[in-house]
Amino acid sequence: MIIELDTLTINKIAAGEVIERPASVVKELVENSIDAGSTQIKVVLQEGGMKLIEVTDNGSGMNHNDTLLSLKRHTTSKIATAEDLFSITSLGFRGEALASIVSVAQVDIFTKKENDELGTHIQVEGGKILSDNNISVADGTKITVRNLFYNVPVRRKFLKSETTEMNHITEYITKLALAFPEISFSLVHNNRSVITAPKGELISQINSIFGKNIAKACIPVSKTEEDYTVTGFITKPEFSRKSRDYLYIFVLNRPVVNKVITDAILQGYGTALPHDRTPIVFLNINIPKNEVDVNVHPTKKEVRFSKEAKLFALIELAVKESLEKSGLAIFERVSETKHKPTKLDQHSAPSVVPKTHPHQIQSSPSLSGVKDKLGYKVVKTRDKSIDYFLPSTQRVTSSKKQEYSQKTLIKILGIIQDTYIIAEVNEGLLLCDQHAAHEKINYSKYIDQIKRKKINVQSLLAPVSVSIKPSELEVINDLKTNLKGYGFELEIFGKNEILLRSIPSIMGVAISYELAKDLIDIFKENADQIRKQIKPEGLDFIKDIISIFACRRSIKAGDKISVSEAESLVENLLKLEEPYTCPHGRPTMVVLNQKYIEEIFHRDYKS
Ligand SMILES: Nc1ncnc2c1ncn2[C@@H]1O[C@H](COP(=O)(O)OP(=O)(O)O)[C@@H](O)[C@H]1O
Ligand SMILES: [Mg+2]
Repeated sequence: MIIELDTLTINKIAAGEVIERPASVVKELVENSIDAGSTQIKVVLQEGGMKLIEVTDNGSGMNHNDTLLSLKRHTTSKIATAEDLFSITSLGFRGEALASIVSVAQVDIFTKKENDELGTHIQVEGGKILSDNNISVADGTKITVRNLFYNVPVRRKFLKSETTEMNHITEYITKLALAFPEISFSLVHNNRSVITAPKGELISQINSIFGKNIAKACIPVSKTEEDYTVTGFITKPEFSRKSRDYLYIFVLNRPVVNKVITDAILQGYGTALPHDRTPIVFLNINIPKNEVDVNVHPTKKEVRFSKEAKLFALIELAVKESLEKSGLAIFERVSETKHKPTKLDQHSAPSVVPKTHPHQIQSSPSLSGVKDKLGYKVVKTRDKSIDYFLPSTQRVTSSKKQEYSQKTLIKILGIIQDTYIIAEVNEGLLLCDQHAAHEKINYSKYIDQIKRKKINVQSLLAPVSVSIKPSELEVINDLKTNLKGYGFELEIFGKNEILLRSIPSIMGVAISYELAKDLIDIFKENADQIRKQIKPEGLDFIKDIISIFACRRSIKAGDKISVSEAESLVENLLKLEEPYTCPHGRPTMVVLNQKYIEEIFHRDYKS
């Protein structure tokens, strides 16, 4: 039997699409306030918005009739026909938000238009109007949303933690405050002020939200090409982050995430920026409304452009010129494919990828290939990769402990290219990457200390301060106690600064600003892991931390080390339970065992 669904049910279903979580309620309400021409918007939350979301504005307000209408689905004052979709100036236009919100929460709407004597108070719960009164209220609109999803228990159960939710909300308000500097924004959570951004210019908003260090680092950007304009600020490469979420991009005042724009920005930075970093950027892009499609997705975060190439060229040039004006020489980024082969590339196999890690072994897949090029006559083709000749323990992951302990260092034979240690071990010849070995040894020591809950902590001679934004503050604050268990002591300073006071002593006695920034980003990106405190070997964030320290602190490829240093390195490495790979799975050493050596010299042929 087919029945027609009643409006309440339809709205509740639709709410699932538009309203996923407290952050989406905040988004919809604040966008409505902006569309209503407000110059002041205040957001108050309790328990990450789960208990209360209250948005107050000084915008146009609504008359009694419109208020009632606004609660229905597909009622909007913002567009009238499909044609209007191609020239949208407002943030909202679908007319679904209020109807959805009131169907899944307990809502109070207070609203009054400037010239009306009295305003309206409507109380709605689960889509049903409980009361409707004329009252005297301030001009503008105040909407309170209590107990979101009180009537959708499944959804309430799946809501993320308060911190995660606040992270989203704070980030969104941050974006809106940057997109609309002429509006004052404030965000209060559990009676604590999270964002206070009085209206002003973009730079003053950056200052209020990100703090003076970042505001001072801003370099202005302004470039126009016909009817395309890019304005805003970028920052020098030294402020770049590991994390991508310092890219604030607005198209027609709408915060967007867009690959074309991101790529153009990176291209503009050229080689000034390492491959794994993203700059801090605040850019407004203005183009004709009919050349951008915002109606791709209900949340309107994605956009499409009709002239991508034009946009790309303008942004790239705008960024490049501003950096150059600020005294930086920009060299064009060469993409991987354009990379010219070096001598080394020509001699080894084509699969060499020496890109990401300096100590990555350029594992040439077959020795015979190399010999061919060197003009040797190869009688027997060796098409097996080198690990075939490694002791079987390396390929079989179980029951390897005993066999490892058999491997002992006899003597160091030398170090070649200031990178690889050659040594004689009982099984044959050992070739070891000094950097990878050191990284692995440090990693194992650290893991061991964590397991024994006895971390050697080093107070930093000079604590390092890192700028953070409001949305990160709560996340980091939340992790503070757990991070102490890993040897990191942090202190939050005001709204925009984190002070790193101590680090595990395995990582040294001093730490650069660069490294501190990366650490904070790693903590943030792995917040869930750190909170859960799983077994240390399973923690990616520890591997990340070790590898950034290793890249900067461990013995590197090219560092000259003494024979006795090499000796202790190899000895320590061989003591480990799993000496063969670095924390990221790249090889630390290979052993050419006797059998392999015999094969090379054809001593295995009985002729
Ligand atoms: N804060 C507000 N101030 C004035 N009018 C509002 C406000 N919030 C909502 N409205 C009115 O209610 C209508 C419906 O809102 P909504 O459901 O969010 O749909 P949309 O924003 O897509 O039009 C809006 O078109 C607007 O006319
Ligand atoms: Mg809306």
